[in-house]
Amino acid sequence: MPTNSPPQVPAAPEEDTAERRDAADRRDPDARRDAGQKVTGTARYAAEHTPPGCLHAVPVPATVARGEVTAVHADELLRRPGVQAVLSHTNAPRLGEAEDPTLALLQTARVPHRGWYVALVVADTLENARAAADDLRIEYATEEHDPGPPAGHPGLYAPEEANGGHPGLRERGDFDAAFATSAVRVDATYTMTAQHNHPMEPHAATAWWEDDALTVYDSSQGATKVRDVLAQLFQMPRHRVTVVSAYVGGGFGSKGTPRPQAVLASMAALHLGRPVKLALPRRELAAVVGHRAPTVQRVRIGADSDGVISALAHEVVTQTSTVKEFVEQAAVPARTMYTSPHSRTSHHVVALDVPTPSWMRAPGEASGMYALEAAMDELAVATGVDPVELRLRNEPDTEPDSGRPFSSRGLPECLRRGARLFGWEGRDPRPGVRRAGDRLTGTGVAASTYPYLLSPSSASAHAAPDGTHLVRLAATDIGTGARTVLARIAAEALDVPPASVRVELGSSALPRAPLAGGSSGTSSWGWAVHKACTALAGMVRAHSGPLPPEGLTARADTAEEAGRESPYARHAFGAQFAEVDVDTVTGEVRVRRLLGVFATGRVLSRRTARSQFIGGMTMGLGMALTESSTLDPAFGDFAERDLASYHVPVCADVPALEAHWIDEEDPHLNAMGSKGIGEIGIVGTAAAIANAVHHAVGVRLRDLPLTPDRLL
Ligand code: MOS
Repeated sequence: MPTNSPPQVPAAPEEDTAERRDAADRRDPDARRDAGQKVTGTARYAAEHTPPGCLHAVPVPATVARGEVTAVHADELLRRPGVQAVLSHTNAPRLGEAEDPTLALLQTARVPHRGWYVALVVADTLENARAAADDLRIEYATEEHDPGPPAGHPGLYAPEEANGGHPGLRERGDFDAAFATSAVRVDATYTMTAQHNHPMEPHAATAWWEDDALTVYDSSQGATKVRDVLAQLFQMPRHRVTVVSAYVGGGFGSKGTPRPQAVLASMAALHLGRPVKLALPRRELAAVVGHRAPTVQRVRIGADSDGVISALAHEVVTQTSTVKEFVEQAAVPARTMYTSPHSRTSHHVVALDVPTPSWMRAPGEASGMYALEAAMDELAVATGVDPVELRLRNEPDTEPDSGRPFSSRGLPECLRRGARLFGWEGRDPRPGVRRAGDRLTGTGVAASTYPYLLSPSSASAHAAPDGTHLVRLAATDIGTGARTVLARIAAEALDVPPASVRVELGSSALPRAPLAGGSSGTSSWGWAVHKACTALAGMVRAHSGPLPPEGLTARADTAEEAGRESPYARHAFGAQFAEVDVDTVTGEVRVRRLLGVFATGRVLSRRTARSQFIGGMTMGLGMALTESSTLDPAFGDFAERDLASYHVPVCADVPALEAHWIDEEDPHLNAMGSKGIGEIGIVGTAAAIANAVHHAVGVRLRDLPLTPDRLL
């Protein structure tokens, strides 16, 4: 099939040396092992591999909101120098059944939303491919499209399940009766526009076929999953597909599922018999790699005059696409947070002719805890109870929804310690009274939570006669420091210095491992690494004399441990405190301080943990103030499609963040005692900021983001 000499499959990158590890460990055992590679540019990302004969592909997005492709005028383009192929539903390789319908690419003429890929141009250079893609003329039969909005939409329905497999609806007691008879009632509706992940590295892949085997360098959060899905789509055994995600420039969920780049690059490489490279242009990401769905959330809380909650309803209205049902599980955290004898948590969704939403850092919790924690602030104002104290008064003995005991619940300690560190005591609760010139100042607090998730993983551990160790598994480092923390876990189990441990990850050819997602990577991979290393340590102890030249190897799999049902409700918790200034002339909100305290089990690596917490808090600041994707009803897709219009906070927006944590001993988790830390930092931040804005200006603004036009 290939017409040129096949490229070699490069070995997994050699990310560090014993000397470097020693030096790094002496400076700081938490220093990133791949830091040197990253700052010197030797860490190579998916689009930075150029096998000999590599072609460049550029995708062509649909320009209509709904309809069918009726003609693809490729003939003239194919006569241009350099253009190798124009793939569309008329000639693209046929794929097997896609479990994720967003990956059924170039298979039919159907256009489910604007931005959906309808063709792929492949040429010898990126410039030639891009020019041809720009000039490709496609005809459509258009149909009337439905862009929503979801609120009040006749197509709304109650889904069986929301994202994460949570039941769409849960009811306990009699909410309506309890709410009606409550002494104090809060009834508020909060809205959020869509948001996009926008990782620094766009979605990219380089793919080639060689002797019926497929190799793909892909920017993904999980090489094993991408490998399995490609094997299914191209109908081949898994062992003939290798996916390498050695270095990944962020994902935040948008690379947690296989994305179009891996499928399209593989299709083009198969069609042409040559390697093909494809990086999705940033302006197209908004339509094809998922987003946080817009939500309309009504929260009703009934309480007594002391603020003790008797009735709680969190009702979420959101949207998905016609391609696939994705339901932002925003009402789910209300099932865990506060005591509430009578409660209702529900989701309604409508399928529109718009791009498909998906995971964005703490899907569900980030949106839901904005609304719930803003409503708690409204309850604090209504009852005159201090917002920290109000939350403490509503601490449940067991998880309200499930009745299960908590494996650990650090929320009260986070709130108390945060209040102390932030200087909450003596806060004047009156809103709108702290003025300095044109500026009003306020402070706010919110709780955060994220579930403890765990997936089965496997790993191998090797002891060499020279005293070094090698740990291998198909984990992915999406920028979090996975290599560093896994080496520490291994070193602890082996009782050796971390510098003697090398960690090889980032390829599906390594022992099977789950994705970096759901804040579960370190716990899931780490348990398998710990188990393999514990077994290896036993083998080494049992071995008399020097190790054989080939060394000793142990393998472990945590399918059984991870599959066990826990009798406990397991969640991480946190408390976020914010201070803001609001400019009464320009309407601009500036965050002056942001302080979070988190309870996430045992923290395994201080520096990488802190980086996750403050990264999450920064993303929460964006959620509160700057990040917003506007669905344009005329076109049925998003208006903000670059970093000039989609405002990710820049350094000048972000004050010196403080992230703290409590030492939490929880024996009901895993061998390390760790909960997840990747997502909890974003949860609650937006509410803390919005509550501080209310405290500053005295007006309750319930629609995010709090841009100047909304303040004035
Ligand atoms: Mo995260 S949204 O689970 O990658």
